[in-house]
Amino acid sequence: MPRNQRETAAHRSEAVAETVERIQGIEQADGVDYPSLEKIGGALFDLAARKDLFPADDFPLGPNKASKIYLLQEDPDGRFALYMSVGTGGKLTPPHDHTTWAVIVSVQGRELNLLFDRLDDGSVPGKAEIVESGRKVVEGRTAVCLLPDDIHAVALEGDEHAMLFHMYGLGLDRLDRRIAFNQAEGTYRKFPAGPIVK
Ligand SMILES: [Fe+2]
Repeated sequence: MPRNQRETAAHRSEAVAETVERIQGIEQADGVDYPSLEKIGGALFDLAARKDLFPADDFPLGPNKASKIYLLQEDPDGRFALYMSVGTGGKLTPPHDHTTWAVIVSVQGRELNLLFDRLDDGSVPGKAEIVESGRKVVEGRTAVCLLPDDIHAVALEGDEHAMLFHMYGLGLDRLDRRIAFNQAEGTYRKFPAGPIVK
């Protein structure tokens, strides 16, 4: 790794550690609700403003412009996991939950979030009825804040190399009870985590 890149990585690690410490303090003081998640978003906006620490070259897309998720930091027990999610136009996820809280903030580019309400009572295994309740574009100082049961789908539009912070209360590779919904069929299935670059 060239010297400049190494220095940037070291400064990035420091800034990430300071930000996550702030976030831990917010969760400890305020608990987990939308106002506290908005505060966590504020800490992430400050980190995202340090553009020099997050050059796109350090977070490349995969082969054939595939989306990638880079782990920036997580606690040894998997709590407070911060990722850099990168992708470009055409990336689309099905509606899904997280089973932990999540805050999404843009470093570069835009991510369209579709939000859903679940209408059924969950009494029939494998069946679920969801309806779109709103849309929000993550860019600038607009964050998406999700509680563990909230359902969203994300889409990246345009050809730019989008880079987003995805901050989770618990690391993605420990979330083995997430579900993804098929709105048209009224069903759901397990939603496995994709590969993570550590
Ligand atoms: Fe998600």
